[in-house]
Amino acid sequence: MTFAELWRELESLGRDTGTGGYRRYSWTPADAACRAWFTRHAEQRGLAVEADNNGNLWAWWGPKGPKGPNAIVTGSHLDSVPDGGGFDGALGVVAALAAVDLLQEKTFHTERSVVLAVFTEEEGARFGVPCLGSRLLTGAVDADAARALTDDTGTTLAEAMTAAGHDPGRLGSRDDLLDGIGAFVELHVEQGRALAPLGAAVGLAEGIWPHGRWRLDFQGRADHAGTARLADRQDPMLAFARAVLAARHAAADHGSLATFGKVIAEPNGSNAVCSAVRAWLDARAADEATLLETVALVRSAAERSCTHCGVTLSVRQESYTPLVRFDQGLRDRIAAVLAAAGVQAPVLSTGAGHDAGVLAARVPTAMLFVRNPTGISHSPAEHADVPDCEAGVRALAAVLADLAGAK
Ligand code: GLV
Ligand code: MN
Ligand code: MN
Repeated sequence: MTFAELWRELESLGRDTGTGGYRRYSWTPADAACRAWFTRHAEQRGLAVEADNNGNLWAWWGPKGPKGPNAIVTGSHLDSVPDGGGFDGALGVVAALAAVDLLQEKTFHTERSVVLAVFTEEEGARFGVPCLGSRLLTGAVDADAARALTDDTGTTLAEAMTAAGHDPGRLGSRDDLLDGIGAFVELHVEQGRALAPLGAAVGLAEGIWPHGRWRLDFQGRADHAGTARLADRQDPMLAFARAVLAARHAAADHGSLATFGKVIAEPNGSNAVCSAVRAWLDARAADEATLLETVALVRSAAERSCTHCGVTLSVRQESYTPLVRFDQGLRDRIAAVLAAAGVQAPVLSTGAGHDAGVLAARVPTAMLFVRNPTGISHSPAEHADVPDCEAGVRALAAVLADLAGAK
C-alpha cells in the first residue's frame, strides 16, 4: 500500500470531529482501535505481532526467526496529547509499515531482523509520565510506581490496563528484549520549523534537550466571589497566575522554555474563589543547569506569591529526561546512506521528547525528521505534506535496508 492509502485508514481513529484534534489516550477504546489497526497491517505483511509486558507492540520480520540478535527496530507511538495533531507518533508508525511495503516489493534478504515497534503512553497525556512504555522497558520507571499512577479521574494505570485486557502485574524492564536490538531508528514529524527554510524534506536528529514536568499544588480556601473581601481571600488562582508569569520571564531570561499547559481549578465554579489549583509546569532547556535554574526561579516565585496570598504550595517532579545525544556512528552511517540516495539531511536538535531518547540510554539510536511546513505541533494544525512523508518513507526504507544488511 502507498503511504497515502495507509494514512487515510488511520486518519479517523480517535479524532474529535469538533476540534479536528486527536484524543488517543492509552488504554482507551481509541488506543485499542489504533493498536488493532497496526496489528492487522503488520500481520498482513507477514510480521509476527506481540504486546510486551509493558503494552508496547513489536512486529517481527526477518528470515532469522522472530527475535534478534541485532534486530533493527523502527517505529514510534500512536497515543496523542489532548487534541493533538495526526502526525506526532503516527507518522513514524505509518512510515514503518510503508517502508516494509517498499522493501517487500524487492527480493529482500536481510542478515538481521527488522522489527516495527509501537510504544505505549509516549505523551504521558493520561498518566502524566511521558515515554512510559519505553521507560518501563528500560527500567527508567519502577513498575510499582507506574501501576499506581492515576489519570485525572483517579483511575490507576493498573486498573486501566486490566480493563483493556492487559496484566499490569507483569510491568517491568526487559533486558532480554533490549539485548536483541542492534539499533533503533525513529522517524517523526518535525516539531519546530528548521527544515522548511533549508528546503529539506528530511532531517536527522543530533540530540534532545533535557526536560521535565513538575506538578504544583496550590491550596487555598474556597469563598464567595460576591462577598469575600479581597484582603480576606486565600486565592490559589492568584498565586498560580503569578507563577505563570514567572515561568514566562524565567524562560525569556534564560533562553529556555517553561509552559503551564494543564491546569485544574477546584471546584471550578464561576462565582467562587477556588479552593485549590493543580498545575503542571513543563520546562526544557539546551543544558541541565539552565533547565534547573529555570525551574528553581518559577518555584521560588510561586512560593513568594503563595506567602503573599495565604496559600500553601507543594511541588513534585513527575518526570525528568536528561540531555540525550544520539549515537554519532549510527547518525554518520545514516547520513551516508541518505547522501548516496541523493538526500542531504540537515542535523537538528529538538526540545521534544521521544521514545528514541529513552532507548538511547541502552541501544544505538537515531531519528529522522520529516519537514513540518509551519512547525506547529501538539495541535490540530500540525501538518506534513504527503510528498515529504513519502520522502521520509523512502529514506527510512533505505536506512533499514542498509542497517539490516540487505542483499
Ligand atoms: C512529547 O511530545 C513531548 O512532550 O516532548
Ligand atoms: Mn508529542
Ligand atoms: Mn511524538
